[in-house]
Parts: sequence; structure tokens; C-alpha cells
Amino acid sequence: MTVIALVSAKSCGVTTSALAMTLSSTRPSLLAECDPAGGTLRAGFFQAQITAGTGLYHLAVAERAGEDALAQAVANHLVAIDASGNRQVLPGLTDPAQAPALARSWPALAQVMRVLSDEGGYDVVIDAGRLALESGRLHPTLTPAPLLHGADLVLLVVRATDQSLALARHMTDPLRNELTDRGTGAGALGVLLIEDGPRRAHEVSDALRLPVMAALPWEPDTAAYLAGTGRAPRKLNKSALLGSARMALGHLQAAASRRALHQQYPQTQPAPAALPAPAPAATPVAADAPQLAGVLQRLGQGRKDPRV
Ligand SMILES: Nc1ncnc2c1ncn2[C@@H]1O[C@H](COP(=O)(O)OP(=O)(O)O)[C@@H](O)[C@H]1O
Ligand SMILES: [Mg+2]
Repeated sequence: MTVIALVSAKSCGVTTSALAMTLSSTRPSLLAECDPAGGTLRAGFFQAQITAGTGLYHLAVAERAGEDALAQAVANHLVAIDASGNRQVLPGLTDPAQAPALARSWPALAQVMRVLSDEGGYDVVIDAGRLALESGRLHPTLTPAPLLHGADLVLLVVRATDQSLALARHMTDPLRNELTDRGTGAGALGVLLIEDGPRRAHEVSDALRLPVMAALPWEPDTAAYLAGTGRAPRKLNKSALLGSARMALGHLQAAASRRALHQQYPQTQPAPAALPAPAPAATPVAADAPQLAGVLQRLGQGRKDPRV
């Protein structure tokens, strides 16, 4: 399946969009709240029902004890957000001061996301939060760069306003460079447009010199519910936000598959319609992490058909 990382230049809807995608997915899905500045789902969507004893920080602690401990921790620290257990959330940090402790764990966590996607069949959405820069590059501890390197697509979330675009513009080159030097290439980078403002997709694309890969409507009532500050809409699944998120996810999955195929078969030779053998995983990490099979076994337990 697909690993999609969402980032922003300034708070503009990363967490809301990631949650909308996770809730709307027609396949098993996982939202990993990996914003180094701290998670907001715990106090928001979960209405403080999840304690600090559950979440991302504990994965970093477990990672120091080895891969088995990490696998166990992944299984123990995901929170199901639907009755079937098909949609899961890894709640984020409770304190930004925990972020430096995660710096050495990001590569292992990136591997976990890859395995959950490639072997576990999950659509993984990573909330990587607001980007921080240092000397023109992604900040080594305040941005979870290894998660971006390992993602199929990295989406810079912007609103359709000039203010949002002005800030986002400073992030495009550092992101391009990072993905070119250490990720799967600048082609993984695109924009997720939140339609709160006058700018149309082509204007956004021109301003940022990036493709707008998906768009979500401005829908305050549903967004307030997802932030834990509003009542549940009568039909959440039929809301414009979740409907568009479902469609966006479909487009993004297709784009990621096309990209993976193009990376395996050089663009000068169009891929044949019927391939002789199934393509291996887009990145090799999954094959290197068989110890994480336990994660998948446990996550698969009790999985039923998706609700929507
Ligand atoms: N599509 C949307 N429609 C309406 N409001 C939104 C939408 N996306 C985000 N918001 C609102 O914007 C604010 C910031 O959203 P959030 O997802 O927390 O941003 P970030 O994670 O980037 O900091 C919240 O009040 C949220 O309800
Ligand atoms: Mg957020």
C-alpha cells in the first residue's frame, strides 16, 4: 500500500487532513502522529481518553531495546479508531521536549511504516508536522526527515491563500534537496491544497513549482469534530471533507504506484502493460526487516472488513 507523509510550513491543517484520510480510507489505515512539536490528537480527537502511557514516545524507548521490542511496542501503542480495528492511530508526543530523544529512532520507525504498508496492507499517513530548517536544510531533530525519505509521497499542505503560499515557498527547495539527496527523489513531492482562500490549484502549482496532487474542501464543522471541539456530523462518512479525502487518497495511491513503476523501469522504456513478474517493494527496507513480522501478525488479529 502507500506511505504518505504530510508536512507544512505553518500550522494549516496537516493533522486534520491526515485524520480525514485515515478515517476515509477504504482499506486498513494507520495515522502516525509524528509531529516533533507534539501531538494534538490526544487532547483533540481523543478528548484526553488516551493517556501519556500510549504513543510514539514509547516506540522510541522500545527501539533502544531492539527490533523485537519495537515490534511489540508498535502492536501495543496503536489505538483503533473504528469498531472493526481497521483504522489505527499512533498518538504523538505529549511534550516537544521528547523530540530530540526520537532523532535516532526515526529510521527504525520509517522501516515500521514501510513494513506496515508493504506487508501489512495498510495505507499509512504520517503527520510529520511543521517543517523546521537549519542552514537551509531540514532540521535534524525538529523534522522527522527519515520518515520523509521513506515515504512514497511527501505532501506539503498549504491553504489557498497568498500568506500560506508565501511561507510554503521557503520550504520547497529544502524539501526537494532532501528527497533528491536522501529520499526517493524530488518526484515524491507534491502539494495538498486546503481550499480555504482564493487561489486555484494551477496558481498554487505555479507559485510553488510543484504539482497539486490532492485538494480538500474547507469544512469547519467536520474539521471541528476531528479536532475534538465540535459535535459529530450526522453522517461523517458522507461529509464533503471525508468524501474528498477518500478521493484524494485514491489519486495519491495511483500516483505513488505509477511512480514506483517508473522508478523500476526507466522512463525511456515505457513499462509493458503486463509485467512478467510482480514488482518488488518500492524500497528495500521491508525486505531487511523480517523481525517486524510479529507486528503484522498482531495487527492482523481481529481485522474485519473496513466500515466504509
Ligand atoms: N479542511 C478544513 N476545513 C476547515 N477547517 C480546517 C480544515 N483543516 C484544518 N482546519 C482547521 O485548521 C486548524 C488547524 O488544523 P490542524 O489540522 O490542527 O493543523 P496543523 O496540524 O497543520 O497544525 C484547526 O482549527 C482545524 O479545525
Ligand atoms: Mg498538527
